[in-house]
Amino acid sequence: MIEASVIVDAASNILDAAAKRDLDGVALLVTAGPTHEELDPVRYLGNRSSGKMGFALARRAAARGARVTLIAGPVSLPTPPGVTRVDVTSAREMHEAVTARDTEARAVIMAAAVADYRPSVRAAEKMKKGEEQSLAITLELSPDILADLAARRRARGGSTPLLVGFAAETGGLDEKAQAKLGRKGCDLLVGNDVSEPGSAFGGDTNRITLYAPGAPPDPLPLLTKDEAADRVLDRVAALLGR
Ligand code: C5P
Repeated sequence: MIEASVIVDAASNILDAAAKRDLDGVALLVTAGPTHEELDPVRYLGNRSSGKMGFALARRAAARGARVTLIAGPVSLPTPPGVTRVDVTSAREMHEAVTARDTEARAVIMAAAVADYRPSVRAAEKMKKGEEQSLAITLELSPDILADLAARRRARGGSTPLLVGFAAETGGLDEKAQAKLGRKGCDLLVGNDVSEPGSAFGGDTNRITLYAPGAPPDPLPLLTKDEAADRVLDRVAALLGR
């Protein structure tokens, strides 16, 4: 038998579908989860993203009628009903998967916690313990996917796709998120302080603040990730003129 959570998702999507279809037919690209950057065949550098926020966005967008492609890092979550899923492992693979599809999307929502750095060298065989008391690993910068999407959009001279970024910070959220909004060149930034109760990695709730160029921050109360996803999608729908 398929998992109960999958049946519940499908049933709630059918019920929701009757309610709100404001993203009907809109092509959306959503990224979710962490990336894993391999050190050798058995070890990697990663982060604690569960993928739940990105999967909630994909699930709710599909329920509101969007044609959703979900680019998922390594997570163990079921694919939401009606969503096309592409699994990737590293930042490099996610970059390729996203830039192969961004021109077809009306909006790209980058909820993934992409690794900023990756090991410069991936050992072909499992690294062995030596006599040394310490080991230095050299890291190199990964491609910044969101900044690249903004640069690609600028080069095309258009305003599509709409770009939504995320900022997970520990303290000083307003200042860091506003700076990130400008630096990344996106249209909407979803900020959350992961050191706050209810907003930690892996949980089912989130307290987010929405940042848009030229607008004051819009802090939302503590919400379930599905509710938070709907609030983000409300803004996306409005920015797309839906
Ligand atoms: O700079 P920072 O990693 O905090 O930015 C977070 C936002 O940028 C997220 O939307 C994330 O998906 C995106 N990002 C990216 N490529 C990277 C790093 C982050 O697209 N290499």
